[in-house]
Amino acid sequence: MSQSDKDRHAYRQAGLFRHDLAADPFEQFRLWFAEAEATEPPEPNAMTLATASRDGRPSARMVLLKGVDERGFVFYTNYESRKGHELAENPWGALTFWWPHMARQVRVEGYVEKVSPAESDAYFRTRPRGSQIGAWASPQSAVLPSRAELETRYREYEARFAGRDVPRPPHWGGYRLVPHTFEFWQGRLNRLHDRFRYRRDESGAWIIERLAP
Ligand SMILES: Cc1cc2nc3c(=O)[nH]c(=O)nc-3n(C[C@H](O)[C@H](O)[C@H](O)COP(=O)(O)O)c2cc1C
Repeated sequence: MSQSDKDRHAYRQAGLFRHDLAADPFEQFRLWFAEAEATEPPEPNAMTLATASRDGRPSARMVLLKGVDERGFVFYTNYESRKGHELAENPWGALTFWWPHMARQVRVEGYVEKVSPAESDAYFRTRPRGSQIGAWASPQSAVLPSRAELETRYREYEARFAGRDVPRPPHWGGYRLVPHTFEFWQGRLNRLHDRFRYRRDESGAWIIERLAP
């Protein structure tokens, strides 16, 4: 048995119980994410982001979680990308994390809004210079005639910003998914998995319910 099989087996044996759960789903996420950072290299912050067009047709792709606090889950991208256009016309999204060594899945659903320009600027400044230039060079989700076209655009922006800081492109920045629902899923033996959903009641308090697997 490999180490990861042993890990998964141990988590499957341990299960998830109502009395283990934090009352606040953000706190529960923080606990599981800290464990994922230890057990799920290299990118425990990778998550699937689902969006949908105005007429409800879904699309999904991976993005990286770059911040989470009681306001929501933050990721960065191109506002003119397919996901950006879908969020402009239908500002609802869903996130899914899968942490195989712990046999855990987390689902988060909510409203998606742009983070402030100051927050996007602050994060953009922390990115490697090559990624900053890449954000200018790539018209994300547009049809490209060739790879060479992309590399030419990269070199053009490299020359344009030579010798100075690369500013954040106006079409690039963060989104924050503000959750109304979370689900914490723990894989168990015989497909008898544990699932707990948090949803807000009319007063805004979080209700925790066990769901059938
Ligand atoms: C592990 C992983 C992490 C990724 N992280 C991001 C990200 O944080 N932001 C982003 O714009 N694209 C990211 N991508 C690329 C997206 O999956 C996707 O190709 C891109 O955002 C265009 O999606 P769209 O055309 O649906 O808008 C990531 C891909 C992978 C495989």
